[in-house]
Amino acid sequence: MAKVAVLGYGTVGSGVVEVLTINKESISNKVEQDIDIKYILDLKEFPGSGIEHLLIKDYNMIIEDEEIDVIIEVMGGIEPAFTFVKQALSKGKSVATSNKELVAKHGPELLEMAKENNANFLFEASVGGGIPIIRPLNNSLTADEIDEIVGILNGTTNFILTKMKEEGLAFDIVLKEAQDLGYAERNPEADIEGYDACRKIAILSSLAFGKHVAFEDIYTEGISKITKKDMEYAGVLNMDIKLLGKCKKIDGQIYAMVAPMLLESNHPLSSVHGVFNAILIKGNVIGDVMFYGAGAGKLPTASAVVADVIDAVKHKGKNIITKWSTKQKTLMPIESIPSYFFVRVGTDNVETTKIEAESILGALKWVQLEGENQEIGFMTVEIEEGIMTEKIEELKAQSSIIDIRNIIRIER
Ligand code: HSE
Repeated sequence: MAKVAVLGYGTVGSGVVEVLTINKESISNKVEQDIDIKYILDLKEFPGSGIEHLLIKDYNMIIEDEEIDVIIEVMGGIEPAFTFVKQALSKGKSVATSNKELVAKHGPELLEMAKENNANFLFEASVGGGIPIIRPLNNSLTADEIDEIVGILNGTTNFILTKMKEEGLAFDIVLKEAQDLGYAERNPEADIEGYDACRKIAILSSLAFGKHVAFEDIYTEGISKITKKDMEYAGVLNMDIKLLGKCKKIDGQIYAMVAPMLLESNHPLSSVHGVFNAILIKGNVIGDVMFYGAGAGKLPTASAVVADVIDAVKHKGKNIITKWSTKQKTLMPIESIPSYFFVRVGTDNVETTKIEAESILGALKWVQLEGENQEIGFMTVEIEEGIMTEKIEELKAQSSIIDIRNIIRIER
């Protein structure tokens, strides 16, 4: 019998307890032993929950208990999670976590520690909720060199963008709904401003390229500047707007970014709606593979955590090699990243604006909303970000252009 402890009885923690309870028999069959929860660490009381007898407040009880094989860290945040995980690994106890902040910041050193102590540090649930993506990168796709990863990595923002587009709803109303459904982070800024997706693409890039990609180095934009008007343009263009996390290899260099992007309706990611996530990986021998599923939510996330617990039990005393060096990977500066852009400009003369803009940017594809004479949108060819910034300044100085209303990248 394997005994485990759960750190944190929040959304994911209670989901983990539920999964280990409702699927107890099938899980036991797969591991050829029972997995029993011995402790749940939480400072709160949960009267009537049925787990009162497992609740403790002192982490030392867990760390000093030799019966505990696996510690499930689902508290979130850096501290005290980091200290608890280090203590667990130093005692040879494996850790399964859903904590993307912790993994993105301290992943390589915790993996190193796990290796030194013949234990495992597993974090399938840290990216894509219930979608298997960490294990495929570390296992099924190891024959490939990864050229590119692009994904919808945040369920909350995808839920919001989908509802805004399909139902014409205001941003705040949909955010509230996402929070009520338990998708959103405690601090909605982490979802809305792309910080959550940034940590997830940092984890995926680090695993794909084997060196540490620091999340602080990743250019990150959220969805708070996406308006109903942008959605109208997307509709006319037969496109969708999605918050994408992306990393790509170009001539041996790597770039990573998080930003809302327009996608053609035939792009494999454009049909990913609601709280679902999807991750498209391009390998040099396999070609394209896509992973799709519930990217957030109690039970899907718990499913990934419990799968890690099962793996840890199966590999007791044996480290599963995960290549993620503590050496930092230098990313291409944002200025040299090539992107396609959609730009909305306020104008007092549409025809003059077309001439002025094309004299700066070359031939452009134009789009105008019905009945709209004071604004026009255009799409560029591929252009380096730094050059585009200069061109935008030139555009602002043109006689017919009142203002630049939004700039959204296009994923081709
Ligand atoms: N807030 C996250 C999301 C939860 O919406 O995707 C899963 O990491």
